[in-house]
Amino acid sequence: MIKEKIDLRSDTVTHPTEEMMEAIKNAKLGDDVFGDDPTVIELQEKAAKLLGKEASLFVSSGTMGNICGLVSQTNKGDEVILEKNSHIFLHEVASSAVIGGLQLRTFSGKNDYLLTPEMLDDLVRSPDVHYPISSLVTIENTHNMAGGKPWKITELNDIFSAAKKKNLKIHVDGARIFNAAIALGVPVSELVKGADSVMFCLSKGLACPIGSMIVGSQEFIDKALRTRKMLGGGMRQVGIIAAPGIVALDSMINRLADDHKNAQLLKKGLEEINGITTRDCETNILFTDISGLKITGKQFKADLAKHNIITSSRWDTIFRFVTHYGIEKEHIEYILETLHKLYG
Ligand SMILES: Cc1ncc(COP(=O)(O)O)c(C=O)c1O
Repeated sequence: MIKEKIDLRSDTVTHPTEEMMEAIKNAKLGDDVFGDDPTVIELQEKAAKLLGKEASLFVSSGTMGNICGLVSQTNKGDEVILEKNSHIFLHEVASSAVIGGLQLRTFSGKNDYLLTPEMLDDLVRSPDVHYPISSLVTIENTHNMAGGKPWKITELNDIFSAAKKKNLKIHVDGARIFNAAIALGVPVSELVKGADSVMFCLSKGLACPIGSMIVGSQEFIDKALRTRKMLGGGMRQVGIIAAPGIVALDSMINRLADDHKNAQLLKKGLEEINGITTRDCETNILFTDISGLKITGKQFKADLAKHNIITSSRWDTIFRFVTHYGIEKEHIEYILETLHKLYG
């Protein structure tokens, strides 16, 4: 039995690498509210360049990045169009309503994630005095609840140009945008060419302990800087938490391919167990339905926990396994061996 806990609840459970810890120790610091922390400046410049945008801003979390993105591109009372299972709608404590004064208009994504130009036609409000003003579309790439689904380049370009034609801005919740880039084998900048703002996480798959980035035009970032300050996100010697971000962008992106391979290995093995089915998986998030085992989700979770395998369910019998830094092929083999012994 493997002694350490194999935690597949999320890629948010990753710990920083040795190199990150060294970078933290050696980080050159300044006061980031005064804009003179050299490590933060380096990280922000690197992030903007990588995504092909003018400027970038370090924020404490993906949630803060998303709300900065939304607030900085809308006016109170505007309507924002987004998928009904998107993180912003489901898991960000109604921040768009509370902080942004925004109304959210949801749609059911085609294949659980996609917004097509035709769908957008129906979602945008006409200029009737009764209606709020549609001003922003947000898309999630990869789409977490659709099983880490990456948007294809053509799907992205279609929606970017449709939104532009309608004078709508686009914010990309790209918490896992690098997983999408690796899965599609394209530079990340290709995935955000038509986006006005993008949030991506340094934590999660890239294994930083803290932090996310928002990127966009200089004008957008200037506004976002004020929004971040208003939210209490203006911090001082931020280089300490920005330093691992530089390591992440330099050396943690390509290894996401290993997480994707491990998710495939897990999917293949799980499908061999009678009573377990898996959903489509192209990146590192695998949804699994265990209802055919005829046990409760609670029981399944407890069985696995006894073998040091930690997972979480979305609905009673639908489990989410997320592969990430720290989960090796041997762990996946051990999980499959354990499940075969328990239910095979
Ligand atoms: C798609 C997506 N967006 C945003 C977030 C929020 O990130 P954070 O937990 O850093 O606030 C998450 C977190 O899991 C996420 O999955």
